[in-house]
Parts: sequence; structure tokens; C-alpha cells
Amino acid sequence: MNTLPLYRQLANHYLDAIRSGTLKTGERFPSIRLMMEKHAVSLSTAVQVCRELEGQGVLEARPRSGNYIRQPEPLPHPLPPAPQDVDAYVGIHQQVSSVLKASQRATIKVNFANPYCAAQLYPLKTLQDHMVKALRQNPQLLGTTAPTSGNLELRNILARRALTSKTHLNAEKIVITNGATEALNLALRAVTQPGDTVAVESPTFHGLLQILESLNLRVREVPATADYGINLFALEQLLRDPEPIRALIVMPNLQNPLGSIMPDSHKARLVQLCAEHATVLIEDDTYGDLVDTEQPLSTLKYWDHSDNLIYCASLNKTLAPGMRLGWISAGRWHDRVEMLKHSQSRGCEALSQLAVSAFMKTPSYERYLRRLRKILTQQRQQMRTAILRHFPQDTCVTEPRGGTLLWVELPPGFSSMRLFHEGLKVGIQILPGDIFSNGSGFGHYLRIACGAPFTPKIEEAVATLGQLLKNQA
Ligand SMILES: Cc1ncc(COP(=O)(O)O)c(C=O)c1O
Repeated sequence: MNTLPLYRQLANHYLDAIRSGTLKTGERFPSIRLMMEKHAVSLSTAVQVCRELEGQGVLEARPRSGNYIRQPEPLPHPLPPAPQDVDAYVGIHQQVSSVLKASQRATIKVNFANPYCAAQLYPLKTLQDHMVKALRQNPQLLGTTAPTSGNLELRNILARRALTSKTHLNAEKIVITNGATEALNLALRAVTQPGDTVAVESPTFHGLLQILESLNLRVREVPATADYGINLFALEQLLRDPEPIRALIVMPNLQNPLGSIMPDSHKARLVQLCAEHATVLIEDDTYGDLVDTEQPLSTLKYWDHSDNLIYCASLNKTLAPGMRLGWISAGRWHDRVEMLKHSQSRGCEALSQLAVSAFMKTPSYERYLRRLRKILTQQRQQMRTAILRHFPQDTCVTEPRGGTLLWVELPPGFSSMRLFHEGLKVGIQILPGDIFSNGSGFGHYLRIACGAPFTPKIEEAVATLGQLLKNQA
């Protein structure tokens, strides 16, 4: 039981809010009347709360205007950092969190870290119109819960579209998710236990390493290259290890960050290897629709004849990041995935699914995708040329066949982590190579995204990064 008098309890409550930044310096403090109403306290208690906070120097009374928040004094003894339990630590190193935190604190003017396309490249007006229409046709929609697996029409559309990449997905066994992030989480939760080992490509996108850490999974990295993706020879060695690899996560088409596309022969062999070693294959096809080709490429799912694969994908890069729609087709793990989805977050909200279905079933969707791929091809070329022009001699840049990501290799001796921190100071954000692996081999690599139209401002930012690198020499 809290033995402090009520006014002190409330004062502490507000003091915490001020110290944590929920209530900010210069903002008006809640009025006496509001405090009486919200906390069901008497006038004298509410006044005492304000006096207490004034006494602590965090409130300033302004005549005829009310109380305003002042900059709090720093805590006299900062709390010591929480002890790290080294044995329990199975995931990604601390660098990812500190890089993401540093980015959140900075004021970013040019964002080369964001893998999405610029908002104006998405068909926002069309989707908004479909949303309005859907609401008009379903006036009860916002008062009705959505099915756990998602809208059946959307699942049918996704299954039919998959046929073009020779992939058979059963619409009844698709679950709509909150992006590929939730799909990957569900896939891993369905087939692993905490402490299991999961293999990933190296380098791999940092969000995946975070997911693995959040699920308390151990990670083994398999080298991958920008030309063919995952190295099958290295994978075979790893799978022969006595330590079982419970699952392997691969992005066969436009790997993040390498942009690699696996040849069909590699895809077939990879699927076979995983089946032979009872390692569940999780396919992340987030970028498949952005491959710049008229003929859709095959997925790993196409080569899977033993139901040993879980397929995950997303509309967040291709259609509407704000809608957060993805999907999972989990084959023999479908029932478990559906149960996990239900227990974790219930069905995704219905309005976005209706709007997206209405758009995706028209021929305009394919036309839109073709145009988007063309624009991205041009943006990648412009960005690549700018990097090669402004960065130190002997810098190498990938030439992916689609998407928004370039993987840049600086000459040895340069540090992309240093560039990251110096870039933030001038409002330019890149992602340093270190966060794409648990190991330490990518310190002179960086990922640059080019989802935004190439403008003089972008060129100038690339030139600034080049200058910052030259200062490192
Ligand atoms: C390869 C890959 N998989 C999954 C995700 C997560 O996608 P979503 O935004 O759909 O959750 C990303 C996001 O950048 C990604 O690059």
C-alpha cells in the first residue's frame, strides 16, 4: 500500500511524467479544475500538488495564465545500468538498438535509411477513394470485428497473383498479417522454441535479427553475396553440424541489403537441402513484386514439394506502408499460425483490406506496379552514379534488378559507423553495415535506400556523405 499522502503521490506521478518528457518544458500544466475532475480530489489537494511541484522547481505560476512546466533538474544520482545477463543473451548485439535510438533522436533532413518508396509514388488517392467507397457500402464496418485470417477476397486475390510466379498458395490457408514483420514472427513462433538455433543470410536486414532476439532464438549466419544470394556450400556445411538448425530464413528475390536474386537452380537445391536436414525453410518475399522484370521470378515455395516451407510477404513496400498489410502461408503449420495470430493480435482491421482488394483486382494494379518498377530503376541508377561520383575511389555499389536498396562497400579503413554518426549531425541518415550482422565483418559497408525521387537535394546529401568520408582518410 502507498503510505504517502495523496497530494505527494499525485505530485510524484506528474514529476515522473515531466522527467520522462511526456509533459514537456514550456507546456501548460493541467489546471486545478481538471485535476479535481480527473483524479477525484478536493480543491486543497489539487492546490497542494501544484505547490509541491513548484517547490521542486518544475512548475512556474504565470499570473492569470496558469502553471507552466519548467526544465527539471537532472536526477542527483543517475540509476546504474541494468546488469546484463550474458548467458541469456542470444540475439543481436547492442549496436542495432543504439543506432536506431540515435536516429530517432536526430533531426533527419535526408533519409537514406528508409526502404520504402516516397509517399507520392504510392497510389494514395486511389486507395483513399476505395476506402471511402468501402465505408459507404459497409456502414457497420468500424463496429464489426474482422476475421482472424483476414478478408477472404483479398486472400483469393493474393493466391491468384501468386500463380504468376508459379506459386500455389491456397487462399483458405493464407493469414493476413500486420506486415511481413508479424508474418515472420508467427512463422518463427510456430516452428521454434526459445533457445533453438535459426540460420539467416549474412548480411541480413537488422529487423530480422531483432525479431530473432525478441523470441530468444540463437542465430547462425550463412555468407551471402550480391550475385547469387546465400552460399549453398557454406549452408550445407552448417546443416551437417551436430547442432540442429531448426529453421532458415531466406529472401530469394531482392535480398535485403544485398539485392541478390537466387538463380532457379540454387532455389531448387536450397529447398532440397532444408528438407533433407529437417530444417524448416521460411521464405521472406517482401520485395518480390519490385523485381524489374516482366516475367515474375519463381519463389522458393514453387520448388517446395514436401510442405517444409512457410511463405511470408508484404504490401508495405509495394503498395501502402501506412496500411501495414502482409500475409503468411504456412502449409502444414497453418492451424498453429492461425491460433497464434488470434492469440497475439486478432484479425487485421478490415477497411484497409477492402480498399486494397478493390484496387488489386483491377488491371490498374499491374500497371501501377510496372510504373513503380520503372521509376525505381531510374532512381537506383541515379543514386548509384552519384555515389560513385562523390564517394572515395574504389567504392563499390551493388546493381540490384529491383527495389530501393543499394549496398555500398567502402575501401578498407573507412568506417560506416563513423559516417552514420557524422551524417546524423548534418541531418543525413544512412544505415551502417555493422547492424546487418551479429558479427563484425561489415564495418566498411553501408546501406543506402533510394525510394525517393532523385533531386538536387539528394545529390547534395550524397556529396556531403562523400566529403565526410574523405575527411576520414
Ligand atoms: C526483407 C524484409 N522483410 C521484412 C520486412 C518487414 O516488412 P513489413 O514492413 O511488411 O513488416 C522488411 C522491412 O524492411 C524487409 O526489408
